[in-house]
Amino acid sequence: MEVRFQNLGPEHWKGDVMLAFACDGEDLLLQNPELDKAAPWLAVAPALRDFRPREGSLALLHGHPELDIPRVLAIGLGARDEVTPDRVRAAVAAGVQRCRALGVRSLLLPEPQLSRLPGGRERLVEECVYAAQLALYRFDALKKPSAEEPPAPEWLALGFDGESVPDGGHAAARRGESAAWAVSLARDLANMPGNLLSPALLAERAAALAEDSGLACEILDEDALAREGLDCLRAVGQGSARPPRLVVLEYAPTGHEQEKPLILVGKGITFDSGGICLKPAANMHQMKCDMSGAAAVLAALTALAREGAPRRVVGLLACAENMPDGGAYRPGDVLTAANGDSVEVINTDAEGRLALCDALAWAQKRWTPAAIVDIATLTGACAVALGTGLAGLFCDDDGLAERLAAAGATGGEHFWRLPLWRPYADQLKSEVADIRHTAGREGGAITAALFLRHFVREGELWAHLDIAGVDWNAKATPLCPEGASGFGARTLLELARG
Ligand code: BES
Ligand code: MN
Ligand code: ZN
Repeated sequence: MEVRFQNLGPEHWKGDVMLAFACDGEDLLLQNPELDKAAPWLAVAPALRDFRPREGSLALLHGHPELDIPRVLAIGLGARDEVTPDRVRAAVAAGVQRCRALGVRSLLLPEPQLSRLPGGRERLVEECVYAAQLALYRFDALKKPSAEEPPAPEWLALGFDGESVPDGGHAAARRGESAAWAVSLARDLANMPGNLLSPALLAERAAALAEDSGLACEILDEDALAREGLDCLRAVGQGSARPPRLVVLEYAPTGHEQEKPLILVGKGITFDSGGICLKPAANMHQMKCDMSGAAAVLAALTALAREGAPRRVVGLLACAENMPDGGAYRPGDVLTAANGDSVEVINTDAEGRLALCDALAWAQKRWTPAAIVDIATLTGACAVALGTGLAGLFCDDDGLAERLAAAGATGGEHFWRLPLWRPYADQLKSEVADIRHTAGREGGAITAALFLRHFVREGELWAHLDIAGVDWNAKATPLCPEGASGFGARTLLELARG
């Protein structure tokens, strides 16, 4: 769906359906005077009298079919003092989905209404465009096109009141489009099944995207991983017929080449069977999403490069497939990580931290980071603790933690801070190696984070995002169908933009 702009005031707006918002107890027309000018027939539309602007309510109002604006979709937002950008996003997305179901060709969203809602005018333009685009997201690459289903609307116009569209309006809409593009890309990658997306294919996809968007890309294959000492990542992939890869992406815009980079590290397990410590069959298919962290890093970096953001960012995708076979790594194995420390493997299903510890250690040998952020579908324990709506955030630095939480909240991705509680690190002591790779079930998200922390040098600014649980959307919502959510792409994009 193309995003357009209309100005010269409401009398000149056009679109098959105009979206209009109201809050509890408000009169749609009194609240939004421009509506009367854009669609004068609204004042006498009988169905408007029955519209109650509760949260989630939608009412389609019809005027004469040949008018510039023949229909209005009234959208309720609930109590005005409870309206948040999250709620506006959900409302816009629900409205857009209704329009798609009706087979509508074009939509008009009046911008003046947004200035009356809490959140800030430009922010809401960005969020409405973002939500409208994501509402149309589908993973249909592997399916025959459906004959019954109407096509998505062709365009969405933002209607401005005044002679011209303010610059800020254009820029905000472009940011919204770019963010939706990034999240859609992350979803596409994560939804792609394990048979069609091996580590090598993910690396190829990354290289192609990098090429298109002006990122440098280097791929470390098995030999290169061996040369560079990434034994833990190699061990995770050694039970699979399809070998691991480390993808190194770099965005260094002119004038920022010498800057210390923000380093983003993503877990890229293209399928996680658990390895020799095989997972139970129930929901194992969801483990095709175990590269959601890598997808978020790749999507955010590509979008940043396309936006031309003025900062240096490096992205690492630690890619492997965790499978059981005669060559697979075993519980009890001792591996040497990229920092030289020996690691005792306890449970082969805790493969993510092995892939990540090597990437983290290797990154610190190669760059002097401004900060390091890793993102991973790391522990079921995090999903148990926080549920499927909140992701875990681990960080010793309050400033970085707050920036990440704020970056997430901007786009509706919410994080809850969990402790890097030092006394638990004792549980990672090994009899035979420098560190043991898992501890007990209790506090599993924390001990996983402490394991990663072991590979981060003292004094380095580092945060760990555990997105297990939020990476998968079990039930369709206006903003996301069932399947991969693309969680994290927007947060990383906002972090690097800010
Ligand atoms: N990829 C899983 C974690 C996961 C679980 C992600 C559910 C999304 C939804 C990870 O590799 C894993 O298996 N972790 C183990 C660690 C344990 C063996 C210490 C877990 O959480 O059970
Ligand atoms: Mn696992
Ligand atoms: Zn995993």
